[in-house]
Amino acid sequence: MVEEVMRLFSVVTGWPGASGFGSASTAEQVTEGTDAKNLTVIVTGGASGIGEETARVLALRGAHVIIAARNLEAANATKEKIEGEEPSARVDVGKLDLNSLKSVRAFADNFLARNLPLNILINNAGVMFCPYQQSEDGIEMQFATNHLGHFLLTNLLLDKMKQTARESGIEGRIVNLSSIAHLHTYEEGVMFDQINDQSRYSDKKAYGQSKLANILHAKELSRRLQEEGANITANAVHPGLIMTNLMRHSAILMKIVKLFTFLWWKNVPQGAATTCYVAVHPSLKGVTGKYFTDCNEITPSAFARDEALARKLWDFSNKLVKKLGQ
Ligand SMILES: NC(=O)c1ccc[n+]([C@@H]2O[C@H](COP(=O)([O-])OP(=O)(O)OC[C@H]3O[C@@H](n4cnc5c(N)ncnc54)[C@H](OP(=O)(O)O)[C@@H]3O)[C@@H](O)[C@H]2O)c1
Repeated sequence: MVEEVMRLFSVVTGWPGASGFGSASTAEQVTEGTDAKNLTVIVTGGASGIGEETARVLALRGAHVIIAARNLEAANATKEKIEGEEPSARVDVGKLDLNSLKSVRAFADNFLARNLPLNILINNAGVMFCPYQQSEDGIEMQFATNHLGHFLLTNLLLDKMKQTARESGIEGRIVNLSSIAHLHTYEEGVMFDQINDQSRYSDKKAYGQSKLANILHAKELSRRLQEEGANITANAVHPGLIMTNLMRHSAILMKIVKLFTFLWWKNVPQGAATTCYVAVHPSLKGVTGKYFTDCNEITPSAFARDEALARKLWDFSNKLVKKLGQ
C-alpha cells in the first residue's frame, strides 16, 4: 500500500524514486555517460514506438543494434533516421514475425549465422486488445505474439548470450516488456487448457494474460540462469502509458481513458526510459527476476510472483513450441 502511494506520488509529480530516476526521466537521461560500444543488442519491434526510441538511444550510446521487425520497410526507415542523427551508429535490421514460429526460427538462424556476439535481448514487440485471431501456428494472437514467439526467440538465442557473457566477461541482460495490464487477466491467471478457447476470449484479459506471461517468463528464466551460474539477468518492465500504435485496436477507448488519466501518461522518450535503464544501467548489475516501472523496482501481482505458475508456464510453452515445430 505504502509502495503504491509512493509510486502514484512519483508518477504524478515526476519525483524520482530510489534509483534517482522517475516517471519523467527519458531514455537519454538514464543512459547518460553509458559507453555501450562493446554491446550488441536485439530489439524486437524496434521500428516504432518504445522499441524505436530504445534502438535509437542505445545506438546513440555506441551499441550495435539489430532491429527485429516484421515490417522491413519501417525498420529500414528507422535505421536511416538513426544514422541520419548519428552517422557512426551501427544499426542492422532483420525480419521477424512473432506470429510465426517458423519466422522466429529463421530470424535466429540468420542472426546466429553471422557469428556476432549478443549481450542484450529486448523482447519489446507486442499487440494489444486485438479481436480474436490466431497466429500462423494456430495460437491465440496476443499470447502467441507477446509471449510464445519471444519465449522461443529467447531460447534459440540463449546459448549465444551465454557464450558472449563467458567470453567477454560482460553481464548479459534480457528485458521483457510487460505492462501494468498484467493485473487484469483471467481468473486462473493463464488459462492453459483453454488458451485458444474463443468462447472465453476477452481482448483485455487476453492482453493481461500475455503481459503476465512476460513477467513469469523473465522470472523462471532468471531462476534457471541463476541455477546454472550464467552471467545473464532477466527482468520485466512496465514502460508506463504512452500513446503509440499499440492502441490501434482501441484508439477511441484509450483517448477517453487518457482524458481522465492524463497525469499518468508519458511521451515516447520517457516510455523507453525503464527499458534502457534495465538494459544497461550499471546499478542493476546482478539484479534479476524483478519487475520495474518508472526506472524503479516494484512488486507485481500475486500471480506474477507465483513460482509454481512461472514453472508451469515454462513447461507449457516449451511443450507447445516443440509440438508446433514438428
Ligand atoms: N504504449 C503503452 O502504453 C504500453 C504500456 C504498457 C506496455 N507496453 C508494451 O510495450 C511494448 C511496445 O509497445 P509500443 O507502445 O511501443 O507499441 P508499438 O509502437 O505498436 O510497437 C510495437 C511493435 O511491435 C511490433 N509487432 C507487433 N506484432 C508483431 C509481430 N507479430 N512480429 C514482430 N513485431 C511485431 C509492431 O510492429 P508493426 O508496426 O508491424 O505492427 C511494433 O513495431 C509492447 O510489448 C507493449 O505491450 C506499452
